[in-house]
Amino acid sequence: MAIIKFPDNIKWGAATASYQIEGAAYEDGRGMSIWDTFSHTPGKVQNGDNGDVACDSYHRYEEDIKLMKELGIDMYRFSVSWPRIFPDGRGEVNQKGLAFYHDFVDALLENGIEPMCTLYHWDLPQSLQDIGGWNNREVVDAFADYAKLMFQEFGGKISKWITINEPWCVSFLSNYDGVHAPGNQDLQLAVNISHHLMLAHGKAVIEFRNSGIEGEVGYAPNVEWIEPFSSKQEDIDASNRGMGIFKDWFLDPVIKGRYPDFMINWFSKKGATLTIEDNDLEIISQPIDFLGINFYTGSVGRYKPNEDLLDVEKLDIGYEKTDIGWNIYPEGFYKILAKITEQYGQIPIYITENGACYNDGVENGRVKDEKRIEYLKQHLISIRRSIDTGVNIKGYLTWSLLDNFEWAEGYDKRFGLVHVDFNTLERTKKDSFYWYKQTINNGWFEK
Ligand code: BGC
Repeated sequence: MAIIKFPDNIKWGAATASYQIEGAAYEDGRGMSIWDTFSHTPGKVQNGDNGDVACDSYHRYEEDIKLMKELGIDMYRFSVSWPRIFPDGRGEVNQKGLAFYHDFVDALLENGIEPMCTLYHWDLPQSLQDIGGWNNREVVDAFADYAKLMFQEFGGKISKWITINEPWCVSFLSNYDGVHAPGNQDLQLAVNISHHLMLAHGKAVIEFRNSGIEGEVGYAPNVEWIEPFSSKQEDIDASNRGMGIFKDWFLDPVIKGRYPDFMINWFSKKGATLTIEDNDLEIISQPIDFLGINFYTGSVGRYKPNEDLLDVEKLDIGYEKTDIGWNIYPEGFYKILAKITEQYGQIPIYITENGACYNDGVENGRVKDEKRIEYLKQHLISIRRSIDTGVNIKGYLTWSLLDNFEWAEGYDKRFGLVHVDFNTLERTKKDSFYWYKQTINNGWFEK
């Protein structure tokens, strides 16, 4: 048995996102988002599930905050539903939407929990999709206006802001792979959108600084570690591309003020060009205060022509997998954090998501999810190693507080520390909840 101990000043938290938990899709003036449209389109989401009710957190947030309080988290990461604030994405503000988030944030603060607010976790107002979505620069400006309003409204209450969650998912997964809303399959579109998202991020950072409110702003890319299959250059290049589409493509422009040539060249080989207008890079590379990192998985990568967009075959070398089929690769977590620090310096990092899908149910009032506990332990050991080797980790927020609407996978895939019965909406604390609570309370766990 070893004791894995964490620095006293590390912040512990849990994360969720609006469309995945709120429900109340048609209430209090909320407009439609692309996820309403997508999830109501037959064949897009497993079992035809949608977020109309989800965890009903819109009505049950007091109960959820009680759970957070009991868990002992310092920080709660949630996202704001843009179409609750601007039902049409821009123009008229919905006061009831603002009022909801004021009540919610006030309740967090009263309970001593620091809010970390994500402005965009994928629920783009449908009216903005109707004018081309993120492919249209008008949408970038609409986002900056929405961000500005949120900073003005919540300055003094919310001090940690995340502009965009997982730009890779918003661009490539949603517009090249077509797996998420709006479900397009067009590489040029995905490349355009990735650039516009970075621009939207930069414009929001400028609004944040101009607003003069106190606090910190960053964004949250998702990353994976891909270990080269062999020392052959073609395998090394393939894994660099595999990681580059998450890491370099979305970190270089913000932190270094330019896009990585190896990725620009690769996309152009596959027929897509990157178009940058004057000043774009200057806007995108506004200094940020912290980087959010989301990490779940990794793999071994081997060069295989025409395997996928990046010509990298992700090999199964016998990893254990979670119930969503993702490899468990805690060593990759350590490696990617070391790599990010090597490439971008000791930028403050919050792990804004890390967690595991296990679908254990309630038996006699208890959920025995020991595999989730094991996953968290292994990944926290990687965090501990990262801190020891100079990665500037400020906080760790697990995904997720609650089982919720897992996008295209619907309700069957569970990531929560708290089980949700999607018929009765009853919440049941899992064994991992008690384990995390004890870890937070002690500042260490036993392995
Ligand atoms: C997203 C979450 C999602 C989680 C598990 C991340 O990609 O930000 O919304 O539920 O991973 O798939």
